[in-house]
Formats: sequence, C-alpha cells, structure tokens
Amino acid sequence: MKRIAVLASGSGTNLQALLDASCTGALNAEIAVVVSHRGDCGALPRALAAGVAAVSLPLADLRDPAVRAAYDRQLADILTVFAPDLIVLAGWMLILSPLFLDRFPGRIINVHPALLPDGVGAEVFTSQGTLPVLRGPRTVRDALRHGFPITGATVHYVTITVDTGPVILREEVPILAGDTEQTLHERIKRLEHRLLPRAVGMALAGVPGEEH
Ligand code: GAR
Repeated sequence: MKRIAVLASGSGTNLQALLDASCTGALNAEIAVVVSHRGDCGALPRALAAGVAAVSLPLADLRDPAVRAAYDRQLADILTVFAPDLIVLAGWMLILSPLFLDRFPGRIINVHPALLPDGVGAEVFTSQGTLPVLRGPRTVRDALRHGFPITGATVHYVTITVDTGPVILREEVPILAGDTEQTLHERIKRLEHRLLPRAVGMALAGVPGEEH
C-alpha cells in the first residue's frame, strides 16, 4: 500500500479527511506519519487517535536562515525514515526551502484555500469571469476584502515558487451575503475535505494534473 506523510500547522480537519478516507478505503493509501512545527497543532492528537505516528518538531527561529535550513534538513530526514510515496501539506504554513523540495521531487502536494491557475499567472479563469489570483496565507480574508463573487480551493503540486505548481484539482465556492472569514473558510474547508483525498489518490496514481 502507498504511504503518505502529512505536514500540518492547524486544526487538522484536512488530515482527518485523509484519515477517514484511508479508513473507509475511499483512499487506497496509509498515512504513515504526521509532522507539525507547532506542539499545539490539532492534527497531532488526530493522528495519535488514529494510531498514526505524530511528530512535533518545533522551529526555534523562523527568520534565521541557518536555523531554517537545519530545520528543513531534519524534517526531510524524519520523513525519509517513513518512506513516503507522497508528502501532503494539509494546512502547513511554513514555506519549504529548495533543499527540502529537492529531497522529494514531484512528490509534494498542497491544499490552498483559493483558486489557483496552473503556473505563475496573476489571473485565474472562473465561472464568474477572470479574477486576480490569491496566494499566501490570508486568501480567505482577501477574497472577502476584494468583494469577489466566488473563491474556491485548489490542490496542486508544490514547486519552488510558492502557490504556483501544477493544479491537480480545483473547484469554486460561492461567497454569500453576510459571509465572515469564519463562515467562508468553513465552506471552503468542506470542499477541501472532498477534494484532498481524491487529489491524493490521483497524485499517487501518477496523474500530473487536470485540464481546466
Ligand atoms: C486549510 O483551509 C488549508 O487550505 C489552509 O489551512 C487550512 C487548514 O485547515 N492552508 C493554507 O492556507 C496554506 N497556505 P485544517 O488545519 O483544518 O486542515
């Protein structure tokens, strides 16, 4: 059976979707390890409850390049022990360095809470016309701030330039009158929980991405 490593920073609902899909057989893969840079990350107890190895690997200093490089090396070493076929960033909020990416070429995917195009373009084509691309860590807030009619979720391969890798799956989410960052993010996450296990299965099967 194929093996997945999951990196997470948040409440871990996307990890839970993967654990559930693996348990029901909807995803024909085993989650081998979950790693977080935050000891209080909700994903770690979810992993332990499912009998999956959970590793808390705190990052001492985000801004010191030497500390950051050592961290990525250590993270890659730990993951290698678990021999993953695929590494899934499921709400992972640290940017991974090229030295980390080079250890797992073409084998890292990310779930992003907005619509991304294939590549580095600044616009994305949607059912509501062309919209500016939202990259970075605050895309739910940004979608509301810009008054977009829709946003969405994207699962894509991770490349050196953040949030630009080939898209595996992407789907739109409507923005409703009265939405807050929380209500919109919850709606996006419900979509992510559906997309991510499917995209993981596709990546494990070697599917490079979908036409949109
Ligand atoms: C998800 O919405 C995911 O798309 C986002 O963090 C959330 C994690 O939720 N990821 C990013 O913003 C990465 N740039 P979860 O901890 O409940 O799975």
